[in-house]
Amino acid sequence: MKGYTYSPAFTPGQALTFHSSAPRPDLPRDSTCLLLRITHVALNPADLVCLRLLPSWIPLLRSNPVPGMDFAGEVVEIGAGVTDPNAGADSSCSIKVGDMVCGAVGLKEVFTGRGTLAEFVAVESILVAKVPTGWGGGEAAGVMGIAGQTAWAMVKQVVRDGSRDMAGMRVLINGASGGVGTVLVQICKGFGADVAAVCSGVNERLVRELGASEVIDYRAHAVLEDVITEQSGERPFDAIFDCVGVQTLYEHSPRYLKPSGQFINIVGGWSQGVVPFIRNKMRPRLLGGTPRSYSLFLLSASGDNAREVAALVEQDVIKRAVIDSEFLLEQAVEAFEKLATGRAKGKVIIRVDTGCS
Ligand SMILES: NC(=O)c1ccc[n+]([C@@H]2O[C@H](COP(=O)([O-])OP(=O)(O)OC[C@H]3O[C@@H](n4cnc5c(N)ncnc54)[C@H](OP(=O)(O)O)[C@@H]3O)[C@@H](O)[C@H]2O)c1
Repeated sequence: MKGYTYSPAFTPGQALTFHSSAPRPDLPRDSTCLLLRITHVALNPADLVCLRLLPSWIPLLRSNPVPGMDFAGEVVEIGAGVTDPNAGADSSCSIKVGDMVCGAVGLKEVFTGRGTLAEFVAVESILVAKVPTGWGGGEAAGVMGIAGQTAWAMVKQVVRDGSRDMAGMRVLINGASGGVGTVLVQICKGFGADVAAVCSGVNERLVRELGASEVIDYRAHAVLEDVITEQSGERPFDAIFDCVGVQTLYEHSPRYLKPSGQFINIVGGWSQGVVPFIRNKMRPRLLGGTPRSYSLFLLSASGDNAREVAALVEQDVIKRAVIDSEFLLEQAVEAFEKLATGRAKGKVIIRVDTGCS
């Protein structure tokens, strides 16, 4: 079995170790897992954080961690303890050997040697969704993984009643051309919102195709907040989704976000969210706090989220996966290096099924 382990280092080339003959995992008795033959893994910025920051001084985390969270793959074995692999969904769509499934595992799995960058992986059955009709494994890993689950969870913070109705709402998406942003634009547009997107000029066409009606090129303006203020004019936003983590975008938001509007950030920065949380949630307005609602969102990957995102694909709300590039398993270092540029348009994918299982 081919796959990777890693130990902390700043560059992917130093961190990743390729193995060409690792043992295939056995499902223990009464396992609640599915054994998957992985076909594709999609990368996320969090994978780079793991590579660089894995605290190897914690003994538990020294046991050959395996990188990779997002996956798509074929079910080759079903654990004896799995009662309904598609838990919570209609029992008629229970998963069988041979089905293609997708989703994401969490950091716990990565740190304990059960990440997804390997040919065979045992994944808890409750974490998976079926690959949507007509979609390939790369597309499915990219959208039903961390990025799509995050985009959907951000939208759910705004439409809390589950109505899926954003008609009449005007939203701003910062970082619209990334893995999260490309799904977020599609969901907001699909639910009827008017979407303004912030990205660089080269990605304007892409985000317009995905559903943005206005595009602001952040590289063409010295002060982003000034151009947003100018363009929003008499039509302030109902919500701002920040997929880049620009503190000044929040601090200036009273100029372009409605008093009742919500600012949702997913980037915690070097302090992993502590500094923005204290600055933006705990500082009273009297002491200079910004008078707008702020939330710092952290995804916990789940099968429910993955299945809800898959349903949005089936319902044609999410129309496509945006794939920046695809690499072979043996080229994983290059894939991580591409991700590390911070310039990917949509998802960076690693193709794992090289035809020799
Ligand atoms: N809190 C959570 O649970 C959670 C979950 C998922 C992701 N995240 C975080 O959210 C961020 C986005 O994730 P992702 O997967 O979308 O990353 P990504 O795919 O690597 O994002 C790359 C994109 O970001 C754009 N970009 C870079 N700097 C920008 C800027 N200043 N303004 C506007 N766009 C900019 C790039 O476009 P250009 O080349 O045009 O600049 C590129 O298309 C990451 O920091 C990630 O760690 C957090």
